[in-house]
Amino acid sequence: MTDPRSATYDRVLRDLAALLAGLDDPIAAMASAACVLKEALPQASWVGFYRVVAPRLLRVGPYQGPVGCLEISFDRGVCGAAARERRWQLVPDVRAFPGHIACDAAARSEVVVPVFDARGDLAAVLDVDSHEPAAFDDDDRRGLERVAAALSPAMARWRELADRTPAAR
Ligand code: SME
Repeated sequence: MTDPRSATYDRVLRDLAALLAGLDDPIAAMASAACVLKEALPQASWVGFYRVVAPRLLRVGPYQGPVGCLEISFDRGVCGAAARERRWQLVPDVRAFPGHIACDAAARSEVVVPVFDARGDLAAVLDVDSHEPAAFDDDDRRGLERVAAALSPAMARWRELADRTPAAR
């Protein structure tokens, strides 16, 4: 029998496949994914993307939830670690994570996965936060990696969103 979490991500993936079919627009893809995931994950307080806009700099992209930090450098926070290591981060207690960025003082746990384009270049990270401790597990990490992989084809033109605006700070 399929466990409930992977069934949730199966549904998310089905919805996204229908929404994104043939789409070559990274903003529409990220916005749709943030929306579908926020609806599907009741424990999530914030779901969204930080885009690579310059070497070692992330800037906020489409998201659902309270206002997020505008920019995060690769050497800061959970998102920075995911970008730097090009690897998922599963953090059951954000207060125990060195350098965690408290955009939302109520945040307690989070999971972040890298989003690569079809060539394998890092385009963004997908960040899912919760006000509950240990709200996410390895099933979520795997499910979100499946979502990131599904976005890859639509991310092809992500560089068009980058390098235009100088870093705000
Ligand atoms: N949780 C992130 C910061 C971004 S937000 O909370 C929206 C981090 O520490 O990387």
